[in-house]
Amino acid sequence: MNNRFHIATYGCQMNDYDSLIIESILLSEGYERASCIDDASVIIVNGCSVREHAEERAMGFINSVSVESKKKKKIILAGCLARSLKDIPEFIDAAVSPTEYKDLPEILKNNFNVLSLKSKGDYTDISINSGITLLTPISKGCDNFCSYCIVPYLRGREESFSSDSILKQIKRSKNLLTREILLMGQNVNSYLSKGRVFTDILSDVLNEFGDMRVRFITSHPKDFSIKIIEMMAENKNLCRHLHLPVQSGSDRILSLMHRKYTADDFREIVRLARKILPDITITTDIMTGMPEESEKDFEETLNIVNEIQFDDAFMYKYSGRRFTLSRYFESVSSEEGLSRLGRLIKVQQEIKKKKVLMLKGKTLEVLSERESKKSKSEFYGRDSGNRSVIIRGMNIQAGKLYNVKINEIAGLTPLGDIAEEK
Ligand code: 5AD
Ligand code: SF4
Repeated sequence: MNNRFHIATYGCQMNDYDSLIIESILLSEGYERASCIDDASVIIVNGCSVREHAEERAMGFINSVSVESKKKKKIILAGCLARSLKDIPEFIDAAVSPTEYKDLPEILKNNFNVLSLKSKGDYTDISINSGITLLTPISKGCDNFCSYCIVPYLRGREESFSSDSILKQIKRSKNLLTREILLMGQNVNSYLSKGRVFTDILSDVLNEFGDMRVRFITSHPKDFSIKIIEMMAENKNLCRHLHLPVQSGSDRILSLMHRKYTADDFREIVRLARKILPDITITTDIMTGMPEESEKDFEETLNIVNEIQFDDAFMYKYSGRRFTLSRYFESVSSEEGLSRLGRLIKVQQEIKKKKVLMLKGKTLEVLSERESKKSKSEFYGRDSGNRSVIIRGMNIQAGKLYNVKINEIAGLTPLGDIAEEK
């Protein structure tokens, strides 16, 4: 058997980060990247379990691996998926949860699951392979226990990493490609380490890496500090984007969700943020069909969406998850949840369209990321507000900042020509 591995990643950016950590750990132990699945002796399936659909995608991949390969290769489950499955299929050799990656070499060597030896789920001592954006967790786990969410059960209790170890990890991992640092946490606003809060770590990163763009996800309205928006206004490198999940517009549902804010609290954050920074981009997550959600509750969600005019939204139908409290509430039928989701998406798409059309004639500062799939003279990039932009022009390079004059809107994507290279 060779010592080559293949990682299949599904889910959010935290799972992308987990795959980079697994890759670093295995490379440092003498393993090599396989050129394709067939060439690998170890297949790691790093999956997400936040919603049923995400779980099905990873399981679909596992099912697509041939019976022959399942016998010959070691198949390891990782990420949230490793802890959430009730019945682990018998051809899975081990399930390694997000806090146990440092044990993976031992597990592979000994052919069995060892009880955590080295791992604590803090990987700030490991350098990862950075792309244009360097993924940088500032904390792990979550203590919020929103009643619908499985994450606290899979990723464990919240723990913030020290400023010192975060800065060291960025220094170790950043390379010539790196232009942007994405600070990550399930709830970045509750960051607390040695008396230092989120705005302190933001200042540390902005001061230390003055040539980098800095972003962060995800904010929780209950812990949000408006000082963050003031920092965006003062520091051009801090991207003018806030991802602030509202989840619902109904106070009754927000309370059942254990979100610990009201719809009016949310409105107030947005009002203040836009007062300080009128051009800030605000995106959100919204769920439909949460147990107990009535038509009236859902209409309150439509109302807040119409009122706030989010630049973009991730919208989901509620999916009952293991361990969570919401499974004991009175369920809304799947058809109803889906029908409400369809109605919500329609409203939000119209808002997004209107917002994107307003960009025509404006100049955005865009970080080019990669060649567009369609043409060599088009690049895909994102502006400070995290909007996807297609840049047109000759000799565009990935990893450069361009001022782009938006002169066309294709579907929901702004397209523009380079006005100036920065
Ligand atoms: N069902 C549907 N959506 C969910 N989310 C979290 N848990 C569930 C669930 N059980 C959504 C929330 C969260 C986003 C990451 O995923 O909107 O903000
Ligand atoms: Fe889940 Fe709530 Fe924690 Fe977000 S804040 S990860 S929705 S429990």
